[in-house]
Amino acid sequence: MDTRVKLDTLFDLEKWSAERLHRVEQALDIWVGRNAPPTLGEPMRYAVLDGGKRLRPLLVMAASEAVAGNAQAALRAACAAELIHAYSLVHDDMPCMDNDVLRRGKPTVHVRFGEAGALLAGDALQALAFELLTPAEEDIPESMQARLCRLLAHAAGSTGMAGGQAIDLASIGVALDENQLRQMHQLKTGALLQCCVMMGVATGEVGAGVRQTLSDYGAALGLAFQVVDDILDVTADSAVLGKTAGKDAQQGKPTYVSVLGLERSRTYAQELLAQAQLALDESGLKDTNALHALAGMVVGRAY
Ligand code: IPE
Ligand code: IPE
Ligand code: MG
Ligand code: MG
Ligand code: MG
Repeated sequence: MDTRVKLDTLFDLEKWSAERLHRVEQALDIWVGRNAPPTLGEPMRYAVLDGGKRLRPLLVMAASEAVAGNAQAALRAACAAELIHAYSLVHDDMPCMDNDVLRRGKPTVHVRFGEAGALLAGDALQALAFELLTPAEEDIPESMQARLCRLLAHAAGSTGMAGGQAIDLASIGVALDENQLRQMHQLKTGALLQCCVMMGVATGEVGAGVRQTLSDYGAALGLAFQVVDDILDVTADSAVLGKTAGKDAQQGKPTYVSVLGLERSRTYAQELLAQAQLALDESGLKDTNALHALAGMVVGRAY
């Protein structure tokens, strides 16, 4: 029997995740918003704590473990990625963007704390992400800290998430072609997910070949994630999603479902999963069970 298939079958993603998430949740609880003025600290903590699938932290940790990376740096990068993600959701939900009232099963931050509270919480979460990556007191080489900051800044800003969000807002009611849609999704969602993988990689020392295969894995998984998000907006209900379903069509957003239809979107997600799995196999790394399982979990949500 193929050893990898055997290991995959035996791999317990839930158990693996629970152990990592325990550390992530504890760290976030300590690091987020405790020293802020209450009117800022409260919305920061509300946006970040007790909610979400925590896919981004898990990807950082899985990639770091695959390359036998620095665990302390990985924990900080995992939390930093989640803070950027949480801030992007707070702003994404505001009336000037997607105007959503439900997120992670709770009223959105601006509904609960007002628009200024949401705006500032997002600002502060973004800054905190970079503060976490640059601790003065821990044994994380400064060159590694700089590498992590460079990766996260590139994925969060105009070359990544914020750039993609700008295209998203400019595309309302516009018939994008498949290339334009792919580019928008790669930027608004794919870039940060790929960055999580590459931050995990950056906590260790690997050659250019391995780095490239893991980058390919991250790119395929990152795009698959938003394809699946588009599918779930149509197929799932709000109670399961913890956010308002059916918003994309209602707001005239071009999505994989609107451009390709439901079945071709599912097929495309499967193709991206196959690309991600192939890239992992080509990496030659031994400890990729968690990365394999996380990719399977992302695409499995579409069924
Ligand atoms: C939702 O991300 C926003 C997108 C990038 C599509 P998630 O589905 O990962 O949201 P949480 O973190 O689980 O709430
Ligand atoms: C959001 O995409 C991507 C972000 C950068 C936050 P969506 O607008 O589709 O995310 P949801 O569906 O509101 O979670
Ligand atoms: Mg949006
Ligand atoms: Mg939205
Ligand atoms: Mg969506």
